This record gives sequence, C-alpha cells and structure tokens, in this order.
Amino acid sequence: MRAFIISSVLLFFSLPLMAEPVAMPPSAQLCGSCHGPTGQGVEPLGPRLAGLSAEYISQQIKLFQTGKRQNATMAPMSMTLQGDAIEQVAQYFSSQEVALVTPHLRGESAVYANPTIKLVYQGDWDRLIPACVTCHGPSGLGGGQFPRLAGQQASYIKTQLLAWQAETRSGDADNMMGNIAKKLTVKEIDELAKYFAEIK
Ligand code: HEC
Ligand code: HEC
Repeated sequence: MRAFIISSVLLFFSLPLMAEPVAMPPSAQLCGSCHGPTGQGVEPLGPRLAGLSAEYISQQIKLFQTGKRQNATMAPMSMTLQGDAIEQVAQYFSSQEVALVTPHLRGESAVYANPTIKLVYQGDWDRLIPACVTCHGPSGLGGGQFPRLAGQQASYIKTQLLAWQAETRSGDADNMMGNIAKKLTVKEIDELAKYFAEIK
C-alpha cells in the first residue's frame, strides 16, 4: 500500500514534467521539408532536431545567421526566423520525442580493445582528447548546450567534424569542438560517426 501511495505520488508529480509536444508554430512549417515534420531528420536532407535542447537549437540558428556556422542551405533558412520565432521553433523541435537508448556508462569497462570506443568513454590523454561522453553525456544523450549524438545520422556527424577541421563551423565556447576535431584522423571520424549513429 505504502509503495502504491509513493508511486502514485511520484506519477502525479512526474506527469507535468513529461515533455508535452508543443503545437507547431507557423515558422516551423518550412523546416519540416528537410528535418521532418516532427524533426526526426531526413537523411541526407537534414539532421534530426528532436532530442536537442531548445537552448542548443536557438544557439545554432544564431550561429547560422551570423555566419560563424557556414552552410549554404541553412544560412537562408535561418534568416526566415526573426524575433520570437527562433525560440518558438526551438521549443517546438526540442519538445518532440525521440527513442531512448539504454545508457552505456563511462566506467562500465576499464579496458576497451576498440580504440574508437576508448575515445568515446576514456578519450586519449596522449593527444589531450577528453572522452566524448564527458560533455555529450552517457551514450551521447546530450543535454543543454551539448547536443545529443546518439542516433544522429552518421553522414551528418561526419560532416560536422570535418567542418570544424575546415573551420567552416565555429562559434562554440572556447572552440571546444574545433580543438577536438582537429586532433581526429579521418578514420576515427568515420568510426565515431558510425558508433554514435548506431547506439541503441
Ligand atoms: C532545404 C533543407 C532544409 C530546410 C528547409 C531547413 N534546414 Fe535546417 N539543416 C539543413 C541541413 C542540410 C543542415 C546541416 C547543416 C550543416 O551541415 O551545418 C541543417 C541543420 C540545422 C540545424 C543544426 C542542427 C544541429 O544538430 O546542430 C538546426 C538547428 C536547423 N537546421 C534548424 C532548422 C530550422 C529551424 C528550419 C526552419 C526554419 C530549418 N532548419 C530548415 C537543411 C534544412
Ligand atoms: C569539452 C566538451 C566536449 C567534448 C569532450 C566533446 N564535445 Fe562534441 N560538442 C561540444 C559542444 C559544446 C558542442 C556544440 C558546439 C556548438 O555549439 O556549435 C559539440 C558538438 C558536437 C557535434 C555536433 C553535433 C550536432 O548536432 O551538430 C559533434 C558531431 C560532436 N560534438 C562530436 C564529438 C565527439 C565525437 C567527441 C569525442 C571525440 C566530442 N564531441 C567531444 C563539446 C564537447
């Protein structure tokens, strides 16, 4: 009985916290053609936006608008959003559900035979590369200004790491990702992209 009461109370309090999908604002309609109407992504037209925080999405739109993040498609798209519209589309896409993964935790294994998986969970201190999950969270689930990588399109993850190497993507605090991407080899980029895309 006691357990029942406790679980009912927990259920009661957790219900309002469960993200209710926000109604689609008119300015998000255009986005759906490449990102999917609920932002699940359409490879190779546009990456998944569901599962990213509103904070991260609005920040990226501003980076496209100012050209710190260069992309011929997203530059004009970002300009269609002015004033409150940025926050509205960010809230809309971030409220969309995305499949949960079973988190793989750092520390679950002390030794990784696969060097890519080692980079993900332990980094490579000889090259001063911190573990990806230090910032991107367990299994790359993301949070706040750190985007979710789990289940994102492999082709997209790869183009982003190459964009930081080519300096066509910038604007993140302290050039965190620029510093990391420049230390990765093309083979590592390929394997990291596949790993995060396939995480279940
Ligand atoms: C014609 C296709 C197309 C349309 C329409 C489009 N996008 Fe994009 N979007 C892209 C592509 C391609 C990328 C990847 C750009 C890159 O490689 O940097 C992208 C990237 C993004 C990102 C970055 C995601 C991340 O994980 O960093 C955001 C945010 C975004 N778009 C929001 C929007 C919004 C909001 C709209 C509607 C106003 C929109 N897009 C319309 C193609 C499109
Ligand atoms: C020190 C913190 C930190 C570490 C460690 C880190 N990242 Fe990031 N990463 C970030 C931040 C912050 C962003 C968002 C950048 C921005 O705002 O443009 C990001 C963005 C990304 C993106 C772009 C995702 C998108 O939706 O556009 C990819 C891909 C990525 N990181 C891959 C990696 C990989 C692979 C590793 C491990 C080798 C890694 N990151 C380690 C902080 C980190």
